[in-house]
Amino acid sequence: MKTKAIVYRAHGAPSSVAHLEEIELPQLQPNQVRVRVLFAPINPADLNAIEGTYPIRPSSWPAVPGGEGAGIVEEAGSEVTALEPGKLVLLPRAAGSWCEQTIVPADSLVAVPRGIPPEQAAMLRVNPATALRMLLDFVDLQPGEWIIQNAANSAVGRAVIQIAHARGLKTLNVVRRPELINELKSAGADAVLLEGDTLDENIQAATGGAPVRLGLNSVGGESALRLANVLAEGGTIVTFGAMGRQPLRIPNGLLIFNDLRWRGFWVSRWYEKASADARSAMFGELFALAQRGVVRSPVEKIYPLEEIGAALARVQEGGRAGKILLSPGK
Ligand SMILES: NC(=O)c1ccc[n+]([C@@H]2O[C@H](COP(=O)([O-])OP(=O)(O)OC[C@H]3O[C@@H](n4cnc5c(N)ncnc54)[C@H](OP(=O)(O)O)[C@@H]3O)[C@@H](O)[C@H]2O)c1
Repeated sequence: MKTKAIVYRAHGAPSSVAHLEEIELPQLQPNQVRVRVLFAPINPADLNAIEGTYPIRPSSWPAVPGGEGAGIVEEAGSEVTALEPGKLVLLPRAAGSWCEQTIVPADSLVAVPRGIPPEQAAMLRVNPATALRMLLDFVDLQPGEWIIQNAANSAVGRAVIQIAHARGLKTLNVVRRPELINELKSAGADAVLLEGDTLDENIQAATGGAPVRLGLNSVGGESALRLANVLAEGGTIVTFGAMGRQPLRIPNGLLIFNDLRWRGFWVSRWYEKASADARSAMFGELFALAQRGVVRSPVEKIYPLEEIGAALARVQEGGRAGKILLSPGK
């Protein structure tokens, strides 16, 4: 059986090396499931994977990009009892979701409960999971406490705002475009600041001097340093992205006199190391948040696979209103 897929045969600039092809699907094995992909986002890590700068490399060539997505079970192998055709599922991490159909092991799929729109389900595994883990796993935050983050309008940043708000935490959010200020405030942000602002005074005004013990950095360079400079003594800064493509600069004094903790987070490692119970508890929590409408990622535009060139160009322009999704069935 053939299926349409975006493929690349060598690492390089995504717009140059990734294009639509018809590829042959392998024979369905007894423990496998054939899934028709409904939606798959284009995340920054997908671009890095195509460029060859991401630690997860393709297991075979030609490679199909796409680190996450949601689809419908079309056919289940003879040994599969838990997933029947028609069921909405999350694809496994790095399965290659930018395609019309794919075949994956049944036990790598996560069944999605009712009440979650498939396009939202398609975006749950990576970004909201990252937000949730970073809020829970580094600092024992109590309701009413403040955290600070940069690139606060990113998918992770928006999930941080939404989850923090639902847990009674307060967020200081740094963005690089003024038009985002009111939008993020209405999404639950407590304070929104611009990259060029003097953070100290604005943060003092917002928090009344309360300590900020957690900073979340997905930009790097000077932006990360500005976050670190406002953290309380003994505070933690978690770096999980490098959108600005600039290295961290860590002044000696922030370590010696402020005892800051510089940590990193990679959700792929979390999934790899987590027990089955921990993974299932996290999906349970993410699904509950999505069902209640607490976690919701805005979508700027949905493209069919045929328009991959335009979709990739838009993702790389920046200044988006939300995620770019591929809809293979569109
Ligand atoms: N470590 C992990 O496990 C993990 C998991 C998920 C995501 N991430 C990382 O987290 C980051 C955000 O991912 P996402 O999917 O949430 O992003 P996204 O929704 O695609 O949004 C991208 C964000 O980056 C900002 N940005 C783009 N170029 C920038 C630059 N040169 N300088 C400063 N900001 C810039 C954008 O600002 P504008 O809107 O103003 O353009 C926007 O806020 C990425 O680096 C991603 O790889 C890491």
